[in-house]
Amino acid sequence: MKLTKTKDNSYTFFNEKYQEAYHSLTGALEEAQKKYIEPLGVKDGQVILDICFGLGYNTFAAIEKAKHLKVIALEIDEEILKELQSLEINNKYNIIKKIAREKYYKDKNYEITLLLGPAQETIKTIKETFDIVFLDPFSPKKNPELWTKEFFQEIFNRMKPGAKLATYSCARAVRENLKEVGFIVTDGPSVKRRGPSTIAEKPSL
Ligand SMILES: C[S@@+](CC[C@H](N)C(=O)[O-])C[C@H]1O[C@@H](n2cnc3c(N)ncnc32)[C@H](O)[C@@H]1O
Repeated sequence: MKLTKTKDNSYTFFNEKYQEAYHSLTGALEEAQKKYIEPLGVKDGQVILDICFGLGYNTFAAIEKAKHLKVIALEIDEEILKELQSLEINNKYNIIKKIAREKYYKDKNYEITLLLGPAQETIKTIKETFDIVFLDPFSPKKNPELWTKEFFQEIFNRMKPGAKLATYSCARAVRENLKEVGFIVTDGPSVKRRGPSTIAEKPSL
């Protein structure tokens, strides 16, 4: 796992097994902010599903933005949860480090649970329904099990009517799978790259 500085001066890691970085090299924390937090309109009181916790930047950006949040995060790799302990960002990131160690955190503003294991399995144990979903696996080529219609159906079933999901990918096959399970798919922002990201909304009743 190689620590890499990105263009907004925040750090990410490069994963040798997947041969991919955990974030866009144009800016790791900027990516969390611009592709997930802003387009989804994260606000106080929401229930959030963070698929692929990694360094926890998406949950971190959410708790920087809002309070009274309940977050369930999914991650398969204990190794990255150990690696992130070396990052020094600020006090709020210490919450992320604690979750990575203890898999659960609760104070008056946040209740955060981290489920360790393959997301395509752990998602089936979740009874909660969500306002907001971050979908942030490695690329469809490297991490195909998290871009399937079957997995999207499990996500869809756990979203409230009108809830929104964001992902960085705009791949046609990804968007087709999202549409086939019933999402309304629109362009998200393009952040220093040619293609847009994707927003998928569960229709209101
Ligand atoms: C692009 S990184 C996520 C970056 C993360 N959202 C962040 O802000 O740091 C992809 C993550 O997906 C995890 N992952 C890959 N396959 C998985 C699976 N089947 N279930 C759960 N997590 C998985 C990887 O271990 C990695 O941490």
